[in-house]
Amino acid sequence: MSDILTRTAQFIREKLTGDCTGHDWFHIDRVRRNALQIAREEGADVGLVELAALLHDIADWKFHEGDDTAGPRAARDWLTQNEVNPETIDLVCDIISTVSFKGAGVCTEMASLEGRCVQDGDRLDAIGAIGIARAFAFGGHFGRAMFDPEVPPELHKSFAAYKSKGGPTINHFYEKLLLLKDRMQTSTGRRLALQRHQFMEQYLKQFFFEWNPDAPNWP
Ligand code: ADP
Ligand code: NI
Repeated sequence: MSDILTRTAQFIREKLTGDCTGHDWFHIDRVRRNALQIAREEGADVGLVELAALLHDIADWKFHEGDDTAGPRAARDWLTQNEVNPETIDLVCDIISTVSFKGAGVCTEMASLEGRCVQDGDRLDAIGAIGIARAFAFGGHFGRAMFDPEVPPELHKSFAAYKSKGGPTINHFYEKLLLLKDRMQTSTGRRLALQRHQFMEQYLKQFFFEWNPDAPNWP
């Protein structure tokens, strides 16, 4: 296992270095560390968790015309080329195909304990101080407004609705980031999410206060 982990880390590092949409190599490395911490505390298969964490953003649907099968396909190709056993390949691809957030009203529960560790590790990196930085980096890259008090957030009921949105970045906090704490799938993930969640709440309070001290409550 350690050989394929080293080769996969190298492959992903080369592929994602320089990305400025929130999916650079450092995101993968942080998710790997978060997921491994959770896996150790939860008693999951750490090798499988590390492999899936390394490959979880190999081909994101946001950059493949909304195609959410591109990631599992690219991971399968890589693992097959590297002669990983078919059972492990299926487990990894299953995790990658369901890991991503698809809208407030869309259920994305993971089938395996290892999947829950990777998803919680990924979601921890979407919240807190790093999560705030990633959201604004994403918004800048895609030309989104930072904030528009006239545009209310939406709770998307389907993946199609979530995919097609183009709202200001502050709305993303209400459409995804603030919802993640209650959707963590492991008790370790829930514990780690709490402090990051509170930090985002404090950040938003300050943001709206600075925007307009006379009307600091939004939405
Ligand atoms: P993850 O890698 O955590 O699954 P995504 O692939 O959904 O996250 O998105 C990458 C990063 O960009 C995340 O930090 C996410 O919160 C952020 N992001 C995604 N969509 C938006 C958006 N509409 N506005 C601002 N940030 C976004
Ligand atoms: Ni990710």
